[in-house]
Amino acid sequence: MELFFLNGDMAARLRLVIVSALLCLSSSVCAETNPDDYDVLQDFYKGLNNPEVLKWPAGSNDPCGDKWNYIFCSGSRVTQIQTKNLKLSGTLPEHLNKLTELSNLGLQNNNLSGSLPSFSGLSKLQYAYLGNNQFDTIPSDFLVGLTSLQVISLNNNPLNQSTGWTLPSDISDSVQLTNLSLSGCNLAGQIPDFLGSMSSLAVLEMSYNMLTGRIPTSLSGSQLRILKLNNQQGSGLTGSIDVVASMTQLTLVWLHGNSFTGPIPSGIGDCTSLTQVSLNNNQLVGLIPENLTALPRLQSLQLGNNKLMGPIPNVSFSNFKYDPNPFCQSTPGIPCAPEVTALLGFLGGMDYPESVATSWSGNDPCGNSWFGVSCTGQTKVSRINLQKLNLNGSISPSLGQLDSIQEIILAGNNLNGTIPDVLASLPSLTLLDVSNNDLAPPVPKFKTSVKFIVLGNRLLDPSAPPRSPPAGNSPPGNSPPSGGGSNPGEASKGSSKPNVLVYVLPIVIGVVIILLAGLLVYCRRKGKKETFPAPSSIVIHPRDSSHSEGTVKVVVANNANGSIPSSIPTTTSSGSTSNTHVIESGNLVVSVQILRNVTNNFSADQELGRGGFGVVYKGELHDGTEIAVKRMESGMLSSKAFDEFQAEIAVLSKVRHRNLVSLLGFSAEDNEKLLVYEYMPNGALSKHLFHWKKLNIDPLSWKKRLNIALDVARAMEYLHNLAHQSFIHRDLKSSNILLDDNFRAKVADFGLVKLAPDGKNSMATRLAGTFGYLAPEYAVTGKVTTKVDVFSFGVVLIELLTGMTALDDNRSEETRHLASWFYHVKSNKETLRSTIDKSIDISEDTFESICAVSDLAGHCIAREPQQRPDMGYAVNVLAPLVDKWKPSKDDNDESLGIDFGQPLLQMVKGWQAAEGSTSMSLYLDDSKGSIPARPAGFAESFTSSDGR
Ligand SMILES: *[C@@H]1O[C@H](CO)[C@@H](O)[C@H](O)[C@H]1NC(C)=O
Ligand SMILES: *[C@@H]1O[C@H](CO)[C@@H](O)[C@H](O)[C@H]1NC(C)=O
Ligand SMILES: *[C@@H]1O[C@H](CO)[C@@H](O)[C@H](O)[C@H]1NC(C)=O
Ligand SMILES: *[C@@H]1O[C@H](CO)[C@@H](O)[C@H](O)[C@H]1NC(C)=O
Ligand SMILES: *[C@@H]1O[C@H](CO)[C@@H](O)[C@H](O)[C@H]1NC(C)=O
Repeated sequence: MELFFLNGDMAARLRLVIVSALLCLSSSVCAETNPDDYDVLQDFYKGLNNPEVLKWPAGSNDPCGDKWNYIFCSGSRVTQIQTKNLKLSGTLPEHLNKLTELSNLGLQNNNLSGSLPSFSGLSKLQYAYLGNNQFDTIPSDFLVGLTSLQVISLNNNPLNQSTGWTLPSDISDSVQLTNLSLSGCNLAGQIPDFLGSMSSLAVLEMSYNMLTGRIPTSLSGSQLRILKLNNQQGSGLTGSIDVVASMTQLTLVWLHGNSFTGPIPSGIGDCTSLTQVSLNNNQLVGLIPENLTALPRLQSLQLGNNKLMGPIPNVSFSNFKYDPNPFCQSTPGIPCAPEVTALLGFLGGMDYPESVATSWSGNDPCGNSWFGVSCTGQTKVSRINLQKLNLNGSISPSLGQLDSIQEIILAGNNLNGTIPDVLASLPSLTLLDVSNNDLAPPVPKFKTSVKFIVLGNRLLDPSAPPRSPPAGNSPPGNSPPSGGGSNPGEASKGSSKPNVLVYVLPIVIGVVIILLAGLLVYCRRKGKKETFPAPSSIVIHPRDSSHSEGTVKVVVANNANGSIPSSIPTTTSSGSTSNTHVIESGNLVVSVQILRNVTNNFSADQELGRGGFGVVYKGELHDGTEIAVKRMESGMLSSKAFDEFQAEIAVLSKVRHRNLVSLLGFSAEDNEKLLVYEYMPNGALSKHLFHWKKLNIDPLSWKKRLNIALDVARAMEYLHNLAHQSFIHRDLKSSNILLDDNFRAKVADFGLVKLAPDGKNSMATRLAGTFGYLAPEYAVTGKVTTKVDVFSFGVVLIELLTGMTALDDNRSEETRHLASWFYHVKSNKETLRSTIDKSIDISEDTFESICAVSDLAGHCIAREPQQRPDMGYAVNVLAPLVDKWKPSKDDNDESLGIDFGQPLLQMVKGWQAAEGSTSMSLYLDDSKGSIPARPAGFAESFTSSDGR
């Protein structure tokens, strides 16, 4: 018999086949399949709502033997279930993990729901595709013991939606795992550290989750080829992206739609396989490194909506998106102005600290009030003052390019490294103050004309107290470690010669400073009763009545820290003999001390309101002039508030209009920044529109509202059409519109105003403004044009019409956002009538003008900026309405001294006269505060390249 020539194993198998064939003939028990596996498949079938699509044979109990569709076996054991794309709905059996030989599970792209079963113990499972279903729960032991797992995808399942879930560390036992795809499945918390130890991992996808925190440093050096962490809900992932540069195998990295900060690491040049890089919609700063754009295989680079600076590089591939960003030029390949290049290089040495970098945008360090930069004339950078900002890093030699620089003040930071030699050859340098840093020798030799201050640098000044616990750093002067010195010759050269200078210089400077201080004290004492610290900054605002135009000339005296915009001419405050404020030849002089006195030392009783950046107090000068004093909150002054402060002064000094609140003066001492405005007795428009009941005041008549609208329109028209420049307010809202005695309006709060670029171009800028008033394109792209103000103006018009606030979370979903809601109701006159503020008495005439105003409002809030009118158009619409309107009999506005029946011109004259007689201004800011730089939800619009 030939059978005996077969080997034993084959013979045994053959025998089994023959036996089971015989059994099949003799009985109905004909199952080759393991009964447990059959049970699981039977339950799988039962759990489905539409099992018929599987077309499994009725009456068969042998999936393996009868070769059921989509099921694959090895012997009697089920090894694969492959039912992708079948629109299956239903749930999976709880005991699926009894399929202990399962190696490949493909259930993706169905409509399976309910809980995922535990996969615990499926030690043969290599591939698990569960993506694009509706599974809503993942059991905590799901990933236990999956020792053969190579690929798992749970993409796009609403897992543990209410709480989110974190990846159990069990998965680190899956030591062969290459693909981990967990996008859109509600992962919460931080990216787990243990991923860094999974050396087999090549693809990590965790997009569209709720992850927070940083990219773990444990991923440094990982062999990942694909990393997708884009579009986390909420503020998203934070911290720097430096670690990415160490993942040299990367071909694709998507980090867009998060809150990553810091610069793009130039070390990314090591990731030579990269083809796709998406970093858009983050808070990245600094230059675009050449190393990134020169990557040999790069095909797609998305960088929009960050805070990237400097030039836009030319690239050789077409899919390059870079706007919006505060670049110095708007076209690729054009270099920045030389000063800008030098300044950005300098900033790069300190890793682009955010507090400074955000204001160093564009191509004009002298025009846009760059934080800490002062200029002489239009273009010559004369001074850098960045003291006490906790700056890290080193002083870049690029500072040596700034030929015009006179003073460099970097005191009180944590700068290390050496002072670049090139600084010694700067032709105009008179002061270099690097005291209280951590700089190291050697120190360059400066000309005697340079005042050089290096006190308080541990390595340069041994007498200084250590800045931090000396971590194994031997101070210079200690004998160098005897053994192992790699280059002793150089070491001694580096430390002996400069040390002479290092030791002597601080002493000399110290003596000089003590002498100077003494002299100063002596002089002060000599001067008469200086009862308060000499006013370091005083603004003199001429109220010269001979100047009917009242053009403003702001003079800053004895400016303390040089951070005042160069547009304001500076003079020194000569030894003015008196410290009481005097109105001398029409000038109002204000000092901090006086402002302290007139506001009862900023007492709470005097408080008029609170804004985003400080509190406003009422004060009365001894001649009876009422003023409003805005006190910038201390502690916020180093960055944003101080920018605002400077911006406000710079703008107010250039801008003057009867419908803009006047700046009377300002004071800036170290910790006190004060702005003095005319006092506006009737306070903010918002108060009269929204809080009149509570405050027990009369609601505004339609006539008053019309006038206010026109006043605001005129103010904005003026701002937008200044002779050579255009200003954009960016934060127009009813709490920034102040009312005088006669309920005429003036626009206030220019803190956010930014000079518009020449022509009608838009510019990308930091997002400012208040939610509810924000134009959509501004919110989304950060692009500012005058049309942003037109939109806000439209919202104010709607507030005037409806008496409803721009945004109110307590209102129904539909009406919450006033502008979007109004956009839909305005077209129907009857609906419109029902939305008008009930306190407005609607007569036939008024309704006509109400309709006209609501039409105008509708145009102003058009979605597309190009479809919104200019402010001039608004003035033209509103002026005739104001003009035409005749007071009804019971309207007693005339008792306030303004006859609205008069022709407009005449009326305005009367009103100008009225303005001259009293000065006014008040602040009541009941805004909801400024919105965060990137509102949640807008990020989605930038999802450039996500292939989902
Ligand atoms: C998915 O399944 C649910 C029931 O579990 C059903 O209501 C829904 O219509 C299904 N959707 C599709 C697209 O089949
Ligand atoms: C998901 O939620 C279920 C029930 O709410 C819970 O038992 C389970 O542990 C959660 N899964 C994870 C991975 O946290
Ligand atoms: C792993 O992920 C990559 C990238 O998404 C994909 O191309 C590859 O097919 C995946 N591997 C397997 C086995 O699914
Ligand atoms: C640019 O990338 C190269 C590797 O390609 C690296 O050696 C170099 O250090 C990088 N440059 C910088 C400034 O990091
Ligand atoms: C300077 O400080 C940074 C941290 O701020 C550190 O990484 C760097 O190594 C230091 N450089 C020197 C030369 O000490």
